[in-house]
Amino acid sequence: MTATQESSTSATGHPTTHQGIIDFVEGVAAMTTPDRVYWCTGSDEEWTELTAALESTGTFTRLNPDIKPNSFHAASDPIDVARVEDRTYICSVDEKDCGPTNNWMDPEEMKERMRGLYAGCMKGRTMYVIPFVMGHLDAEKPMFGIEVTDSAYVTASMRVMARMGSNVLERMTELDADFVPALHSVGHPLEPGEADVAWPCNDTKYIVQFPEERAIWSFGSGYGGNALLGKKCYALRIASVMARDEGWLAEHMLILKLTSPQGVTKYVAAAFPSACGKTNLAMLEPTIPGWKVETLGDDIAWMRVGDDGRLWAVNPEYGFFGVAPGTNEHTNPNAMKTINKGNSVFTNVGLTEDGDIWWEGLENPPARATTWKGEEWTPEKAEEGLLTSHPNSRYCTPIKQCDILADEYDDPRGVPIDAILFGGRRKTTVPLVFEARDWTHGTFLGATLSSETTAAAVGQVGLVRRDPMAMLPFIGYNAGNYFDHWISMGKDHDAAKLPKIFYVNWFRRDEDGGFLWPGFGENSRVLKWVVERIDGQAAAVETAIGHVPTPESLDTDGLDMTEEHLRDVLAVDPAEWRAELPEIQEWFEKFGDDLPTVLWTELDGLRARLDA
Ligand code: GDP
Ligand code: PGA
Ligand code: MN
Ligand code: MN
Repeated sequence: MTATQESSTSATGHPTTHQGIIDFVEGVAAMTTPDRVYWCTGSDEEWTELTAALESTGTFTRLNPDIKPNSFHAASDPIDVARVEDRTYICSVDEKDCGPTNNWMDPEEMKERMRGLYAGCMKGRTMYVIPFVMGHLDAEKPMFGIEVTDSAYVTASMRVMARMGSNVLERMTELDADFVPALHSVGHPLEPGEADVAWPCNDTKYIVQFPEERAIWSFGSGYGGNALLGKKCYALRIASVMARDEGWLAEHMLILKLTSPQGVTKYVAAAFPSACGKTNLAMLEPTIPGWKVETLGDDIAWMRVGDDGRLWAVNPEYGFFGVAPGTNEHTNPNAMKTINKGNSVFTNVGLTEDGDIWWEGLENPPARATTWKGEEWTPEKAEEGLLTSHPNSRYCTPIKQCDILADEYDDPRGVPIDAILFGGRRKTTVPLVFEARDWTHGTFLGATLSSETTAAAVGQVGLVRRDPMAMLPFIGYNAGNYFDHWISMGKDHDAAKLPKIFYVNWFRRDEDGGFLWPGFGENSRVLKWVVERIDGQAAAVETAIGHVPTPESLDTDGLDMTEEHLRDVLAVDPAEWRAELPEIQEWFEKFGDDLPTVLWTELDGLRARLDA
């Protein structure tokens, strides 16, 4: 990095006069003692140098430029493959403010502990300073951050996932702007002469948010959700606290634009837990004729009520960090087109002999490949259960390469949301789609959302847990207060102008364990029903849980599905729902007095309707 480093650290040594930034960077450097400090510019030359450096340490393997230009394969340490929820902390000053769903430690105690870990931890390494903005640089109030990291992998990935570089730093300097200081280290110092490993990390990991200070300290992991600090740590955990204080919403939601054959446009946001279908729905290719989906975001939505009383959403990110396995030309052709343009990083997928990547579910399996763990893979070994890719392997690719990116993506005002979908993975109980009766009932559905755990977080996969608004690992404060914030959005504003709320489940199973609903592009049928409900055109049956489509109201033209099968897809079984009641009761009791009473009223209402 020498050339660029010299040009950007001349005279004062810092390419900014922003004292807050200088103090932060110098403070971290003094504590972590890196060999070099490098201020990122975001230029193409910088990317070339970074990726070359990553190739030389063996972190990156350059893919065949004829197949995936300017793209790289990386394999992590097997102990560093996903978010670490049990190592993630919300260190509020008062323990009560972190609530019963987060890990807590006193902020001063945590800092003391982490200062011990950070002391000298960047020895032998370059410390990269990444000025970034979540959302638009020309937003009314741009949301700045400075990530300081000793990982070139993180720096390269941040360039894909967030707007960053010299123009951001200039604007921060001009405005003398507030920013979120975000400190990251892989926690793997190098002694003089010690060779680096391909994926430096540490057995000890901490992912820590200080909500009052709006600061982030991350240690020990290089994995996306733990290390690309603009994403989950800032745009969800810290931003949710800002949103509570300022009256807006920071949510784990995709944003899409849907246009009907008549040219009517609607905007939909959807919250599903990690690895439950956001990226796929965001880029959906409708199977029903004449309908069009364009994407605005696949993971995070910041939503504010506008002067017109509607809820306006922006995607603060700049790239997609998508689950690789299962992605293919059928399930997500738009993601395939996006990554095939190149400029992407693939982590923990298989590497083929011709210098391409491959993962489970992709077309045309290669005759041989190297797995993410470096084992030799063949289709025969696959039959014995050997996987090329970790179930949480990811592609990291620029959003601007997506052919179906909506023009409104570049509008700092965002788009007015017409419908919010909540959804998760449930084998039973939850029908394909139903509509909430009103905003408060919709908040109840979100607050009681349940889903099976996935490989996106370390821990057992397939356990049903409550994952409120798909935000369980991301709410930066007391979830009881978070529910209250949602309820008050409906009270402080004209609820009639807010989005209608729906609940979906693509993952219901039949007796043989197969998916009852074909999913992916066929989910356009559900989107169509949703917008027809909003426009008062589609029929529904009122059930104990909400408004469920009549079999005729769901467009099944061209879908090979018997009437009986469709009934199973839409079925509401009172016995299954009665079994949910004690679980919801137990979930709500966790929050004590912090749970808004109206949610208890909603639960009583559900119980009464199920008994009627
Ligand atoms: P995200 O992490 O919420 O963005 O989820 P993704 O869209 O990346 O999907 C995660 C996993 O769920 C992938 O393996 C997908 O193939 C799978 N998936 C997504 N949508 C559907 C669907 O409609 N039906 C089924 N059966 N699987 C889906
Ligand atoms: P996902 O994003 O929601 O696309 O899985 C990463 C994560 O939530 O860990
Ligand atoms: Mn996510
Ligand atoms: Mn995703």
